[in-house]
Amino acid sequence: MTERLFRFEKTLAGLERKGRRRALLPHDAIDFTSNDYLGLANSPRIKSAIAEALERGVAVGSGGSRLLRGNHPEHQALESDAAAFFGTERALHFSSGYSANTALFSTLPQRGDLIVHDALIHASAREGIAASRAQAVLARHNDVASFDEAIRTWRQDGGMGHPWIAVESLYSMDGDRAPLAELLALAERYDGFLVVDEAHATGVFGPNGRGLAAAMEGRDNVIQLHTCGKAIGVSGALVAAKAVICDYLVNRARAFIYSTAPSPLMAACVREALKILVDEPQRRSEFEQLWRFANGQMLAQLGAPASGSQIMPVMIGDNCRALGIAARMRAEGFDIRAIRPPTVPEGTARLRIAITLNVDRPAIVRMFERLSAISIEEGV
Ligand SMILES: Cc1ncc(COP(=O)(O)O)c(C=O)c1O
Repeated sequence: MTERLFRFEKTLAGLERKGRRRALLPHDAIDFTSNDYLGLANSPRIKSAIAEALERGVAVGSGGSRLLRGNHPEHQALESDAAAFFGTERALHFSSGYSANTALFSTLPQRGDLIVHDALIHASAREGIAASRAQAVLARHNDVASFDEAIRTWRQDGGMGHPWIAVESLYSMDGDRAPLAELLALAERYDGFLVVDEAHATGVFGPNGRGLAAAMEGRDNVIQLHTCGKAIGVSGALVAAKAVICDYLVNRARAFIYSTAPSPLMAACVREALKILVDEPQRRSEFEQLWRFANGQMLAQLGAPASGSQIMPVMIGDNCRALGIAARMRAEGFDIRAIRPPTVPEGTARLRIAITLNVDRPAIVRMFERLSAISIEEGV
């Protein structure tokens, strides 16, 4: 290998030594890892929506940025349906949750503002925060007093702008929920904003799957991010907010402006998925029964506390051990992945078990039986 390439290999070898090297794996075992919570990724209704859109002559590619030739009627129809669905003045469609989060945080908080974000917030929000002109500070996970203290200290030190509280409504790697009502009260008290990443709650929680912050929809200081690649089963994201916020993003968010618009077909699929959320509430109730059953199994078979959601981390600690257990589970037909730093804090490597409608109760029971046995063999 040439010297030019060797430095990359050296870094990879270092990651390997720490149990942090990643590789792309096939997915041929039973799904205990995807975010396809409602099983919509393979939905016949969404597939028909694509076929029907093609029939109507909808293009595959958007052909450009939304601000140029890439703005299709499908995007606008989706945004109008989504605004009505989420009870907000406007919705803005992004090609991914990652780009929406970077856009939100790098664009909306202004110089002189303060962003206080939860310690466990997603990497895409961190990316946006790092690019923001606002000052940023981290609050302890789900600790309202820590958010409060950060804002108070900033104000006492002369902070004059608006504070932005940034959280996930349901944490992607822990499965626990943010204290949204208290955080909104804090935002109100300090004349600030609350930005809620609903990625893992959209479609699953709240009326019609509108998310855990559904009760706050439409407020001028609440901005919600709904990703479309998880329970919605497609890809992309919708920012739901006041019209002025969406207009501002259209004018200032580089990730929105300097990027080809999502395929109009994806917009048609997400529209159909939103209709499914309304038409098929039984999916959500069936899903709730299933993840509650899985929470019970986890407690009974692993003695591990239930997270109270479909995301159930099994804490292992050591990277290599987590990798080893996940590999053994996959070899036995259960697709389970080890989540390691930097995705999660150092020393908290875990198996992230996610329940979806792609599995049934007998599979859940078998999986936990094997996981319990393998964990004991591995000394966990
Ligand atoms: C909490 C959270 N926010 C944002 C994202 C990014 O969304 P997307 O996968 O659509 O880019 C993810 C995806 O992993 C996530 O878990």
